[in-house]
Amino acid sequence: MALCLICGLFTLRFSTFINAVLSLTLLVCRGYSQEAPTKQIVALLGDDVVLPCSLERPVDVSDLQLEWARTDLIPGFIYVWEKNKENVGMKQPSYVGRTSLSSDKLNHGDVSLTLSKVQLSDEGLYRCFIPQLGQRSYVHLIVGSASTPVIKVMSNDSSRVVLQCESAGWYPEPELLWLDGEGNLLSAGPTETLRGPDDLYTVSSRVTVEKRHSNSITCRVQQRNTNQSRETHKHVPGNNDSHSETNYFIISPSSCAV
Ligand SMILES: *[C@@H]1O[C@H](CO)[C@@H](O)[C@H](O)[C@H]1NC(C)=O
Ligand SMILES: *[C@@H]1O[C@H](CO)[C@@H](O)[C@H](O)[C@H]1NC(C)=O
Ligand SMILES: *[C@@H]1O[C@H](CO)[C@@H](O)[C@H](O)[C@H]1NC(C)=O
Repeated sequence: MALCLICGLFTLRFSTFINAVLSLTLLVCRGYSQEAPTKQIVALLGDDVVLPCSLERPVDVSDLQLEWARTDLIPGFIYVWEKNKENVGMKQPSYVGRTSLSSDKLNHGDVSLTLSKVQLSDEGLYRCFIPQLGQRSYVHLIVGSASTPVIKVMSNDSSRVVLQCESAGWYPEPELLWLDGEGNLLSAGPTETLRGPDDLYTVSSRVTVEKRHSNSITCRVQQRNTNQSRETHKHVPGNNDSHSETNYFIISPSSCAV
């Protein structure tokens, strides 16, 4: 009997607690839903990029105060527009000379910021804020770097060719794939990754190709977060033995060892 009473009390307490959590969650969600969802923008190292921010209605905002800031730095201002011109007073030093607004666009409610010569350290969350309108929106800038791989012939005898693929200057760390002429994945040696003092990655890998018949081998280097992919092809002529009609196959150092 006493146990049931405790159970009942507990259940009552618990449901009150859940209700409180639910209404708190609703409150918090409502608060956020008034803001536009964070936009993701990918820029490549050295590029110029536009961080979008605009009002729904094309009203002239050039007389208002406009603020662009990095949310992870304090004060983090990278562009402040005040009294119809830029106020460079509190600007983050690394952004000096690299940010601009278009006054033509400000006349139509478009506060999009151009950031030039993008650096790896520019990656982060940016806030566009118009204090007088209480208008706030966020852009997440992802910075990448990519370069075309180079294939070298490491050895070449009558039955097989060993190819090496190398690609320098990637960010973030990419993956390297070998493909045959039909786009099938080849098993190859492990990808070696080096990181330079500039924070960029160099990847390389070797594959052994049997010369059963002529083939076009592709080395593809790709990075998912930045949606970058670069590839290079190498033609491997087949030799003419008696087995030239049979299907070619590919072996790799790793599968040999197993
Ligand atoms: C990724 O890149 C491909 C080719 O460049 C493009 O067609 C595709 O729309 C991109 N996807 C995203 C999510 O950016
Ligand atoms: C391997 O050597 C042969 C003979 O010199 C040449 O014809 C062939 O193109 C070479 N293969 C590659 C992949 O360079
Ligand atoms: C190689 O194959 C081609 C086409 O099948 C043929 O014409 C040529 O005579 C062959 N060469 C040798 C050295 O067997």
